[in-house]
Amino acid sequence: SNKTTRFTSVKALTESPELTSLPPSYTYTTNPDDEIVEDPHEDDPIPIIDYSLLVTGTRDQRAKALRDLDQACEDWGFFILINHSLSKGIMENMIDNVFAFFNLREEEKQEYAGKDVMDPIRYGTSSNVSMDKVLFWRDFLKIVVHPEFHSPHKPLGFREASAEYCRRTWKVGKELLKGISENLGLEGNYMENAMNLDSGFQMIAANLYPPCPQPELAMGIPPHSDHGLLNLLMQNGVSGLQVLHNGKWINVTSTADCFLVFVSDHLEVVSNGKYKSVLHRAVVSNKATRMSLAIVIAPSLETVVEPAKELLDNESNPAAYVGMKHRDYMQLQRSNRLNGKSVLDKVK
Ligand code: SIN
Ligand code: FE2
Repeated sequence: SNKTTRFTSVKALTESPELTSLPPSYTYTTNPDDEIVEDPHEDDPIPIIDYSLLVTGTRDQRAKALRDLDQACEDWGFFILINHSLSKGIMENMIDNVFAFFNLREEEKQEYAGKDVMDPIRYGTSSNVSMDKVLFWRDFLKIVVHPEFHSPHKPLGFREASAEYCRRTWKVGKELLKGISENLGLEGNYMENAMNLDSGFQMIAANLYPPCPQPELAMGIPPHSDHGLLNLLMQNGVSGLQVLHNGKWINVTSTADCFLVFVSDHLEVVSNGKYKSVLHRAVVSNKATRMSLAIVIAPSLETVVEPAKELLDNESNPAAYVGMKHRDYMQLQRSNRLNGKSVLDKVK
């Protein structure tokens, strides 16, 4: 019944009268040895990839952009994508509509409080409330938008804004995967075919992080990597994302109009570990509400994702991962506690 799935969102909690301290259930212990640094740091800044050079650059420009992309995927598993072809208007319209969803009355949102982890539209809080020992300072909305398009029926403009945004980000994702396939020495359409992208899985994962009374004691989302091939993230101009690079947490302080792109677990598997999915987390603040909006670009749910046979060699490059159906992978990740890269099945 509906009763069993209802929960207290972080947003509702912060709007209850005078929340001046963090409720104990949200107290998260970070590792005291964690080293946190600002970007750009020294001579190893977060890589920036110019999308326009990949798709409309001269031969030389494209070759250079591909090399940069290859290095970014290998050294960081993460990069900033600029000149990505989506207009400011499309981005802002999407952000506004997702905000409007989170601003609906709690009863209206809870219509989508998920019963099953695979439900196409899920509104929730923390990560997995039934498993989390500590709650995370985050509400979320997850919507499957490909191969079948879903949308909440409120707010009014959501469906239209989302359809446009998803169609365009899917194209950007496919274009990046074409370059990545080439960089791996595969055919340009390798991912498209082997990952069955015609029926590929695309999902919106929106995160809301309301201002937190004691941000240093809480965590928005704990260290994890994403499922899928790539994740294209935008945010509302408030920072909070940290990515792990060479053992240090890098504060990502980018502007609102670029995409933050994550190499995700399935790309690690297909590339047989040449590219590693990046561990990341989101910290919270007491100043402003942060919103981030991820677009997951992933294989079809029925695809068994395994290292590309073309890359393997019994002696020099044996398969390092066990193949797993995307649907099983997702079910496993979602029904457990979010915990680093624990879902990846490595050959022992
Ligand atoms: C996520 O990893 O899903 C969210 C990251 C962020 O909010 O920046
Ligand atoms: Fe993530």
